Amino acid sequence: MDKTVIVNLKHYKVSSGNRCENFLSKFIGMDNPSDTRIVFALNPIDFRIAKSFPELDFYAQHVYSIDFGAGTGRYSIESLMDFGIEGSLLNHSEMRVPECQIIETLDKAKSMGFPIVICAESPSEAEKYLAIGPEYIAYEPPELIGGNVSVTSANPEIIRDVVEKCAKNSVPVLVGAGVKNNHDMKKSLELGARGVLVASGIVLSDDPLASLTSLIEIL
Ligand code: G3P
Repeated sequence: MDKTVIVNLKHYKVSSGNRCENFLSKFIGMDNPSDTRIVFALNPIDFRIAKSFPELDFYAQHVYSIDFGAGTGRYSIESLMDFGIEGSLLNHSEMRVPECQIIETLDKAKSMGFPIVICAESPSEAEKYLAIGPEYIAYEPPELIGGNVSVTSANPEIIRDVVEKCAKNSVPVLVGAGVKNNHDMKKSLELGARGVLVASGIVLSDDPLASLTSLIEIL
C-alpha cells in the first residue's frame, strides 16, 4: 500500500514567500526508509520555486478551472504544469469552493491527467465527489485544524466511515487536522486511510525535518 503525506505549507511565515526556499531546503536528501510518498503543497506566491527543487514533489494548495487568458488573480492547471507542479488540493477548509466549481475543475484536471485531492469536512461531503474521480479525498474536520487534538484520536469512527464510503469508488483517503506525530500516522493507516495531510505539526515545529522524518517512520 502506498503511504502518502502531504505537507501543506499554507501561508505560514516560515514556509512561504522569502522563507519558502530555506524551508524546503531542509528536506533535501531526507531519509525515507518507509518509502512514503511526500508532497509539499505550495502557496501560489511560491509556485515558481518548484523548479528549483526537482528532487521534491509539489502540489498547489488550490487550482481553478480557467484557461490562460483574462483571469485576474487566478491561474490555470496549465500554468501549474509549466512550473512542474504535479497536482492540487481543492476545497480546503480555508479555501472552500462551490460544488459546481469543484466538478468543473476536476473534469478539466482529469482530461489533462492532473490529479486533484478534494478536501471534505464530512463523510457526506466526501460522498458527493467520489464518482468524479479525485486522486484522494482528504477528510479534515475544520474544528481540529491547527490544534493539538488529532483527527485520528478525536474521530476514529468517522474516519472509518469515510474510508468505507470512498472504498466503494476505490478512492483512497487522507486524513488531516491536528496531526503531529508517528502515532497519528500509524493510526490513520490502521483506520484504513492512505496517509495524512498535515501543516502546523511540521511547518511550525522547532525542527521540521526531524518532525517529518519521525512522522513517516513506520514501526
Ligand atoms: O491542510 C492541512 C491542514 O488543514 C491541517 O492543518 O495544522 O492541523 O495540520 P494542521
